[in-house]
Amino acid sequence: MLGNKMAVALNAQINKEMYSAYLYMAMSAYSEERGLSGFANWFMVQYKEEMTHAMKIYHYLQEQGAKINLKAIEEPPSDFQSPLEMFKKTLVHEQFVTKSINELVDLAISENDHATQIFLQWFVTEQVEEEANDQEIIGKLEMIGDNPGALFMMDRELGSRTFTDETQEE
Ligand code: FEO
Repeated sequence: MLGNKMAVALNAQINKEMYSAYLYMAMSAYSEERGLSGFANWFMVQYKEEMTHAMKIYHYLQEQGAKINLKAIEEPPSDFQSPLEMFKKTLVHEQFVTKSINELVDLAISENDHATQIFLQWFVTEQVEEEANDQEIIGKLEMIGDNPGALFMMDRELGSRTFTDETQEE
């Protein structure tokens, strides 16, 4: 059984993961509008990943007999200046999510909640991977600059990303 503080904080994390999904869906839509279907694919895969993150917490709360309290999801931006700006925004957002996960771990430690500490380790590892992916793409986009041919190649590369539900690979 979870403590009330932990349950409230995990419910808030569901909302942050849902907002992440919504943000990446908006970026996918924007990419499609710009004819960048590979970027659109990458962000749509990211949207699906975020939904699995939200659901992983949802199921954990249920397993622990805690109440699910869903809140309104904030409206994401729908216009972006460039693919580089989208990935810079993605990285800043993921850094915010990492901070939030770290605060959940701190809370689990202070509450002596060992089960939640173990549960959260998956998210700690996932955040390292997400930030690294974003950094790598930002680096490539900075090199590409205004070169349309290179951007087209990058679009092709991002178009090959496929979705796998990593929350099921324990
Ligand atoms: Fe759910 Fe992008 O971290």
